[in-house]
Amino acid sequence: MAESLIIDSGSKEDKYRTLLPQIAAVTQHEPDPIANMANVAAMIHSTFRFWWTGFYRVSNDGATLVLGPFQGPLACTRIPKGRGVCGTAWLEQSTQVVGNVELFPGHIACSSSSKSEIVVPVKAGDRIVAVLDIDSEHLDTFDDTDRAWLEQIAELIAPAIS
Ligand code: SME
Repeated sequence: MAESLIIDSGSKEDKYRTLLPQIAAVTQHEPDPIANMANVAAMIHSTFRFWWTGFYRVSNDGATLVLGPFQGPLACTRIPKGRGVCGTAWLEQSTQVVGNVELFPGHIACSSSSKSEIVVPVKAGDRIVAVLDIDSEHLDTFDDTDRAWLEQIAELIAPAIS
């Protein structure tokens, strides 16, 4: 089954269009948030072969982001509110698209290979429960197409990961 979920041809738009209903199908009947985040990270990562794809979850005390399920190399475990791209997406409750991470004030370099990044908040009602963080080893990987589709994915999976 895992192999059939990898979409290896077509435009970025085509890939997202195929991926969205697959993510819905995989997560809709599973109540465990960790299992769902793990599969969503794997599906996005294997479709686009990004450098790093994963979730940071808001800690129970609401103080930090804590590393959640991901695909890719080792990553930092805790990110304070307002720090780096992830902490900024959390604080500002808005998607951050960063074409060159070296130009982002306070960027947290988990890996020197990461060159561009997108971070999308996942909201349950008006509460941020997690952020979806994707890193690329190329500059300017993410654009409005990624933003629009990843925001749709975040909205779709919010009930399944909170
Ligand atoms: N670069 C992120 C930290 C997380 S890693 O990229 C996996 C940031 O600045 O928030």
